[in-house]
Amino acid sequence: MDKFIIRGGNRLNGTVEISGAKNATLALMPAVLLSGGVCRLSNAPRLRDISTMSALLEQMGMGIKHPGTTLELDASAITHFEAPYDLVKKMRASFYVLGPLLAKFGSAKVSYPGGCAWGPRPVDLHIKALQKLGAEIEIEQGYVLAKAKRLHGATITFDVSSVGATGNTLMAAVLAQGSTVINNAAVEPKITQLANFLVEMGARIVGIGTNHLLIEGVDALHPADDDNIPDRIEAGTYLTAAAAAGGTVTVNGVNPAHLEAVTAKLEDAGCTLGYGERSITISSDGALRPVNVTTAIYPGFPTDMQAQWLALMTTAAGSSRVTDTIYLDRFNHVPELQRLGASIDINGNSAMVRGVAQLTGAKVMSTDLRASASLIIAGLIAKGQTEVLRVYHIDRGYEAVELKLRNLGADIQRVDSEEY
Ligand code: UD1
Repeated sequence: MDKFIIRGGNRLNGTVEISGAKNATLALMPAVLLSGGVCRLSNAPRLRDISTMSALLEQMGMGIKHPGTTLELDASAITHFEAPYDLVKKMRASFYVLGPLLAKFGSAKVSYPGGCAWGPRPVDLHIKALQKLGAEIEIEQGYVLAKAKRLHGATITFDVSSVGATGNTLMAAVLAQGSTVINNAAVEPKITQLANFLVEMGARIVGIGTNHLLIEGVDALHPADDDNIPDRIEAGTYLTAAAAAGGTVTVNGVNPAHLEAVTAKLEDAGCTLGYGERSITISSDGALRPVNVTTAIYPGFPTDMQAQWLALMTTAAGSSRVTDTIYLDRFNHVPELQRLGASIDINGNSAMVRGVAQLTGAKVMSTDLRASASLIIAGLIAKGQTEVLRVYHIDRGYEAVELKLRNLGADIQRVDSEEY
């Protein structure tokens, strides 16, 4: 199992190319099930989560090629409508196949996802919405068994704005008979991307980009192609790494509007930011002011940047509070940051960080994708050597992270390790 060895203290300078968005790709791949043909998704990142989704769709009969950065998916011969536990337990986004399988083939058997590393992650909203669209759903032996001759339109009002439930409902409603209204829909860029892709496939959707979606069901969709949006969390992670380590870094190939919540906080922390049409440049001397953040649904500060922000604040000149309102116990990275000398107290869903003069290197363990990113940032500023174990977590969501960081001047090596 690989680990990273980081020798902290180097400044970061240069340009880093940002990959296509992981989570958008994970939403668009299952949507191809609805097309009945060949769709091409360009700017698709090469990541472990994408391979997991590919394996899941392949065992349903989808043909998948991923030459370079284009994913070519052929949904003309789908024969199995099942998502087995082995794959769903690796990645919760597998649950995205439920809506399209049900809408297109009238039947789906999808493993019920368990909790994740930082606690419970329910799917009740997905299930209730599909029931409103007419699906018969039973939970048996750990599986969601869903059936429907043809779904019908309905009004669905989510009491929590959920990215996954909005995506699943959207993919089901596009082939339902009649019209569907989704109130309190998620407005994340990947939902906009998914809705636009469905429209390219022949779906009729009004209100894209707002939290009120109106879908007029159609009898069939056709194949379409899509150009993926950039990964705003990957970009935010490199900006935060540069803020922490000091230096001048440009993240290239991004949509600056998607990152406003993060860049505003980086400015508050004392960094200088410059914005191009598809790039953001950050300059930092590594001496940061403490800045509170509270995560919120898009366009608020993303929960997927909470761990990285916490790492950034560990050496700020004072105390800051980091509150997560999306996942109330997403703090597995905190005990590991404490091993590096960070001073952090958890109180409910808030972490109070008292900036220290210097972190010191140690062995730490990745527990999930964003926790790994936070430990790498901490390792870049810690004195001496930090070893980050279980980096398979980071391979789920960051393409060639150590190469991109080395190109910016970081001292980071991936080595094969017996340690687990
Ligand atoms: C997606 C992202 C994940 C990100 C999260 C929040 C993917 C593959 N994953 O996850 O990286 O951290 O958005 O931005 O795109 N909820 C319920 N019932 C449900 C569904 C959700 O109560 O049926 C709650 C969740 O517990 C959470 C909130 O809704 O508190 C938002 O979760 P949701 O937006 O659904 O997250 P995911 O789509 O799973």
